[in-house]
Amino acid sequence: MTTYGRYPITFIRGKGSWLWDNDGNRYLDFTSGIAVTNLGHSHPAIIKALREQSKKLATVCNLFHIEEQADLAELLIKNSFADKVFFCNSGAEANEGAIKLARKWGGANGGRYKIISAKGSFHGRTLGALSSTGQREYQKGFRPLLKGFKFVPYGETDPIRRAIRDEKTCAVILEPIQGENGVIVPPDDYLKKVRELCTNNNILLILDEIQVGLGRTGRLYAYEHSAIVPDIMTLAKALGGGIPCGAVLANDGVSISFTPGSHGSTLGGNPLAMRTGSAVLKAILDNGLLDNSSKLGDYFNNRLKYIENKFSSLINEARGKGLILGLEFRRKEIAKEAVNKCIAKGLLTILTVEKVMRILPPLTVNKYEIDFAINKLEETLEEVQYA
Ligand SMILES: Cc1ncc(COP(=O)(O)O)c(C=O)c1O
Repeated sequence: MTTYGRYPITFIRGKGSWLWDNDGNRYLDFTSGIAVTNLGHSHPAIIKALREQSKKLATVCNLFHIEEQADLAELLIKNSFADKVFFCNSGAEANEGAIKLARKWGGANGGRYKIISAKGSFHGRTLGALSSTGQREYQKGFRPLLKGFKFVPYGETDPIRRAIRDEKTCAVILEPIQGENGVIVPPDDYLKKVRELCTNNNILLILDEIQVGLGRTGRLYAYEHSAIVPDIMTLAKALGGGIPCGAVLANDGVSISFTPGSHGSTLGGNPLAMRTGSAVLKAILDNGLLDNSSKLGDYFNNRLKYIENKFSSLINEARGKGLILGLEFRRKEIAKEAVNKCIAKGLLTILTVEKVMRILPPLTVNKYEIDFAINKLEETLEEVQYA
């Protein structure tokens, strides 16, 4: 179905940060499949996991114990705030699970069901996740949506303080950085203050780390920058390294609300996805990729600040954290032209909210590739400026 506006390019092969199309042209992939291929394309650890596991056992139903599922759960638990994990197949499905878990917990804790979300947020396309998404444009034509969501401005705590006065509130759901909304980084103390509000009012904090988790910001999870922990966290995208895989993580006090039969997913937690997920997580943790994401993120950010200064008549702001970066243009026509010209020159980025060029390199990126991107960008903006 025509759900996507597509570029007239067909990729047939990828290696590291690079993609090749069916005419043999090479492109630097700074989309990473929208924050999916955090290890780059064709990473040996993923190939090995897929090869070995597909020969052994691809899937088995969740009515039996699955060793590979326990292994990935253990790895996630060891390296996060969580005590328990539920596995599914995508980001939207993970957020559906989180919403259901929060409602189940809220129901048992005073009959509460309302969830506070942020304006400009993006949590997925299924109806529950879409209802929690703070962008009307995605919701157009799909009403009535699920009830019980209240939207507040992102990055401000007073509106949350006021909203939680509604005694039916059970949770707040937030992205630590809003990706789809143009790489919006909230004030440094935002999550800490929201955490305090949630704790003091016995309300759950759900963090959607689907785009910014798994090393993208230079830490394994973006919440680590704020020295807080959520009660529920959702993951997907990069977790499967390209194989569909999502997860809902929670602490014991919350996860206990799900009992056998409460929730499920036929393919969620299948051995193939689980083995790949473990390979991805180990590769991120064991190969210095968090450090690379942080250091090269700073390097890239500085180079983008140079671009921002040089082309200040075209660009409003360069921003981001680690390897989630955004270049906000002053005019959407220019943003579109710049993204398209970069693609024609072999640099792939994503146009988001019409005027932000979103840049998501793999965590394995090197300085040469960043410089290549900056050169292409500079060349493009010079052309656009003097056109
Ligand atoms: C923050 C966030 N949450 C949820 C989703 C939805 O994930 P999926 O497309 O895997 O359903 C996305 C996708 O872009 C996202 O960026």
